[in-house]
Amino acid sequence: MGNFININQLNSSELKDIISESFIFERNFHQNKLDKYNNKNFIFLFLEPSTRTKTSFKIACSILGINVIDVSPENSSIVKGESIENTLSTLNSYPVDGIVIRSANHEDFEIAENILKFPIINAGSGINSHPTQTLSDLKTLSEKFEDFNGLKISIVGDLLHSRVAASFIEGFGKYGQKTNLFSPPFFKPKKLNLEMVNFYEDFKECLENSDVIMALRIQKERLNDLNIDFDEYASKYQINKRILDEYNIKYLMHPGPVNEGIEISYGLQNSEKSLINEQVKNGVWVRCAVLDKILREDTK
Ligand code: CP
Repeated sequence: MGNFININQLNSSELKDIISESFIFERNFHQNKLDKYNNKNFIFLFLEPSTRTKTSFKIACSILGINVIDVSPENSSIVKGESIENTLSTLNSYPVDGIVIRSANHEDFEIAENILKFPIINAGSGINSHPTQTLSDLKTLSEKFEDFNGLKISIVGDLLHSRVAASFIEGFGKYGQKTNLFSPPFFKPKKLNLEMVNFYEDFKECLENSDVIMALRIQKERLNDLNIDFDEYASKYQINKRILDEYNIKYLMHPGPVNEGIEISYGLQNSEKSLINEQVKNGVWVRCAVLDKILREDTK
């Protein structure tokens, strides 16, 4: 497999195989039937904060018997001003089997690809790509729907900054499906591939065409000069129980973390129609499948 940077590097059957493998990992774990790797080491380099992705990668490594070497930026020489290039060159000297990287800069992955001799897994890059989140989302949907033909998944909210949406569109496209999108004008992406998405200008029209809503976090850390009145936003675009019921929406998804009271109402995360906790749970199994595929097929 080499590096895993984008969903689009997988063809349809490779992606579906990873999802199938993730179900096997989950089942075998619960039946105490998992083989473990010996003497495998992965570095974690999370240059942006993470709860779900980092924790699930750590648990997946623990389940598979992979040692984790966590290079936290706040406790590393990055705080002394060491460049990303020199940091990666340093890490490249160690006898490790792979690295999991999260960075606000997608360009860091190109730098890493040029420097590192071991496989790289993208745990979230800027506004570009979050491939293992998509795998988790697709496994979650696979648990609820036998197939995805005609399934109306609508991603709503801060599309402008969403690596989750960008990767999901690619992943759902591997099943031959278009993703529905809605955002207010200030969150509308500059480019839309209309072969892959249906973009709705009207919120209600999007809701009417949704079996599942995936709400997106407003990424306050990336808003820059965009001034958003969060109360006004919530009053116009918040997903709440009334909307889920009125529009007959079967499930709510959200990659997390949630801005409760803004893009979704308080408490909705743990309500009957929410798959948010399943998305988190499935993060472990898809990451097991990715780590296993990388270690089995290490061609770097
Ligand atoms: N969904 C997601 O990437 O969450 P974290 O930022 O907590 O990892």
